[in-house]
Amino acid sequence: MAVNPYLPQPARILERRQESATIFTLRLRFEDPVLRETYRFQPGQFNMVYLHGVGEVPISIVSDPEWEGVFDHTIRRVGRVTEGLAALKEGDCVGIRGPYGRGWPLTEAEGRDVLIITGGLGCAPVVSVIQYVIRRRRRFGRLTIIQGVKHSEDLIYRDQYEAWAQMPHTDVHVAANVAQGHWPWHVGPVTELIAQAAPDPGRTVAMMCGPEGMMLTASKLLLAKGMSAEAIFLSLERNMQCGLGHCGHCQIGGKFVCRDGPVFRFAEIRGLLGVRGF
Ligand SMILES: Cc1cc2nc3c(=O)[nH]c(=O)nc-3n(C[C@H](O)[C@H](O)[C@H](O)COP(=O)(O)OP(=O)(O)OC[C@H]3O[C@@H](n4cnc5c(N)ncnc54)[C@H](O)[C@@H]3O)c2cc1C
Ligand code: FES
Repeated sequence: MAVNPYLPQPARILERRQESATIFTLRLRFEDPVLRETYRFQPGQFNMVYLHGVGEVPISIVSDPEWEGVFDHTIRRVGRVTEGLAALKEGDCVGIRGPYGRGWPLTEAEGRDVLIITGGLGCAPVVSVIQYVIRRRRRFGRLTIIQGVKHSEDLIYRDQYEAWAQMPHTDVHVAANVAQGHWPWHVGPVTELIAQAAPDPGRTVAMMCGPEGMMLTASKLLLAKGMSAEAIFLSLERNMQCGLGHCGHCQIGGKFVCRDGPVFRFAEIRGLLGVRGF
């Protein structure tokens, strides 16, 4: 995009949608008309989002890569920068650098079954994959979505999960550790649903996102079902500064999450997950 990769480019908020008490979505458009035309990303990549005078954070791009001129970020309010972003209104501007990182293996997944496993707001980076597969349904086999949340109220995009469940060749399973009100899905840890899943090991590509402990357990369950560590992909989160593989902030073992990830094959990082001190 920009000549100087460290320079955030102004992007205006066209729409702001509140998804839950702490989660909101911003629809953005670059101010620069040339950038608007030329900006391209892959599902699973992220932008560095800069709030003027406060700081910069990595945020996944959740919209369809073929939308022209606009892109969405779904953000959970957790600290300084995300609190500030939450307070912005339609018409306000942020700075954007990106897209960065390696996205989901969508070409590799073509013609195969796709299994998506997510926990908590882990769903944001994979929503773009789900939308991508659904819009190009004939290119993929069976789509199975397994989503876990701590509390039923944490499930965002609930209407979408219900709509996806009605689609042909698509299975949707949602688990909440604690459920209140009308909850047609499973009550218990998401790993119980993964244990019940029966992926065809020879033709399935698994993509997952969420807490690392959950992804490690899920990966082990899939390996036990005969899947290869080469066919299991995880999106990792680490603190980031440059986003470009220069500063070392996001290092995990010999890899930089910003440059070599955030999407990794399980085979590449199985020895690094859950290890403290990197
Ligand atoms: C590749 C990548 C993609 C990401 N995509 C998204 C996304 O699509 N949407 C999104 O909301 N976030 C996403 N994140 C996480 C996001 O970058 C952080 O939440 C953000 O940097 C927090 O900054 P802050 O200044 O608001 O909070 P800080 O002031 O830095 O942190 C405040 C408190 O929140 C805790 N905290 C920080 N980050 C997280 C976190 N991720 N989860 C839970 N607690 C946290 C800190 O430990 C601290 O206690 C992504 C991160 C990476 C690396
Ligand atoms: S954020 Fe600087 S190396 Fe990854």
